[in-house]
Amino acid sequence: MIQRQKGCNDLYGREAKIWKYVDTVIDAMMEKYNYSYIRTPIIEATELFHRGIGDTTDIVTKESYDFEDKGGRRITLRPEGTAGVVRSYIENKMYGDPNQPVKVYYNGTMYRYERPQSGRDRELTQFGMEVLGSDDPLSDAEVISLAVNIYKMLGLKEIKVNINSLGDTESRLAYREALIEYFKPHIQDFCEDCVERLEKNPLRILDCKVDCDNPILKQAPKTLEYLNEASRDRFEKVQEYLDIMQIPYEINPNIVRGLDYYNHTVFEIEAKVEGFGSNNVLGGGGRYNGLVQQLDGPETPCVGFACGLGRLVKALELEEVKLPIVDGVDLFLLYVNEDEKKYAAYLAQELRLAGFIVETEYTGRGLKGQFKQADRLNARFTCVLNSEDLNNNEVKIKDNRTKEEEIISLDVLIYYLDEKLNASLEEDEDCNCGCDDHDCEGEHECHCGHCHSHNE
Ligand code: HAM
Repeated sequence: MIQRQKGCNDLYGREAKIWKYVDTVIDAMMEKYNYSYIRTPIIEATELFHRGIGDTTDIVTKESYDFEDKGGRRITLRPEGTAGVVRSYIENKMYGDPNQPVKVYYNGTMYRYERPQSGRDRELTQFGMEVLGSDDPLSDAEVISLAVNIYKMLGLKEIKVNINSLGDTESRLAYREALIEYFKPHIQDFCEDCVERLEKNPLRILDCKVDCDNPILKQAPKTLEYLNEASRDRFEKVQEYLDIMQIPYEINPNIVRGLDYYNHTVFEIEAKVEGFGSNNVLGGGGRYNGLVQQLDGPETPCVGFACGLGRLVKALELEEVKLPIVDGVDLFLLYVNEDEKKYAAYLAQELRLAGFIVETEYTGRGLKGQFKQADRLNARFTCVLNSEDLNNNEVKIKDNRTKEEEIISLDVLIYYLDEKLNASLEEDEDCNCGCDDHDCEGEHECHCGHCHSHNE
């Protein structure tokens, strides 16, 4: 039997429904913040990531899927979305659009050749957003608030926002010197890669996966101590805007992020739910003011964020968040003979076009088997088509919730189903923030999707 590749997952069944639902929430929230959808290719020139993410990062040196195509080009499967978006911004001259900043979001597959473990896949899905062309600290705060609001809209409660600043070029250089000075006497205790990183890129020692438990790391100088005045002021502005937006956060001086393109604000959002394990960072991002220029575009300040969908769905599961997933069909059409089957095909078509979820029989089961199948599919209504009823232009419908049966004229079937299903929707409506009060009408403070609609 051929098996799936290590660190890759098949998505199907109920879990696929959850992912699709999460996608709709992401789309809806991105729209509120006026981000446009962007899709860039999964394959890019290897050089893009070497120059963009950094030659000494783990992502580029150890985790990238590189290959040569049949034309001899060096190709890489994208490990993240930012570099591709920046390439597209430059190549399509989006910087020339007077409508700046350009605000885009994506949701797609990325590849990292990592050691597979919980929360760390080789094929992963990330959604993310990038703001290109704004240096305003308000954009930093807005990106953080957008990420937080997506989590809240989904009903996640246990999240924590950690922010830090790496500062501008001057501050970063000062910090670099301090790190070299600090690590030099201890470097023989670190892995071979870190020895190399010392001069090339000492910041990467701080997020080394091999040496992460080395106590020397904990005492290392912190970025905030090396911020110049302008960088400090800027960081304070970001915090001010977050306070205004009422986004709770903590300053965590240990956050440096694993990609080289960052400066100024960096942040990570953690799931604080029990059982998550060590890979509990739902997403991360920050400002990258130098990347567009580094990739041959004009000077363009940018900020962005990305989140792994797998980790997000796991957090929703661990928090047992109730999601409004459609799990069942509205109507199952049962039949015995070929004429009734043909009518089932006709009626299913009509009702589906009218907006109902309709199923029928495809595997030759008898009536008993069809009833079992209808139960397995959690059919709200069943309808046994029989030639006599059809000749009278009517059908017998059974409501599987109340067990009531009614004879309905085919002329009013759509209205009948519509009314019954809408009535149950209203009964079912409670919110996924933990409030089970059907009549709350948004009186309590809550940011879940349902209560928003109550409030409106
Ligand atoms: P990143 O921290 O490398 O940042 O990845 C962002 C998120 O992607 C992680 O927090 C995690 O949820 C998910 N992720 C990363 N690697 C894996 C993996 N192997 N398996 C499962 N999930 C994973 C970036 O990618 C930046 N491009 C974010 C950004 C956008 N910065 C600015 N703009």
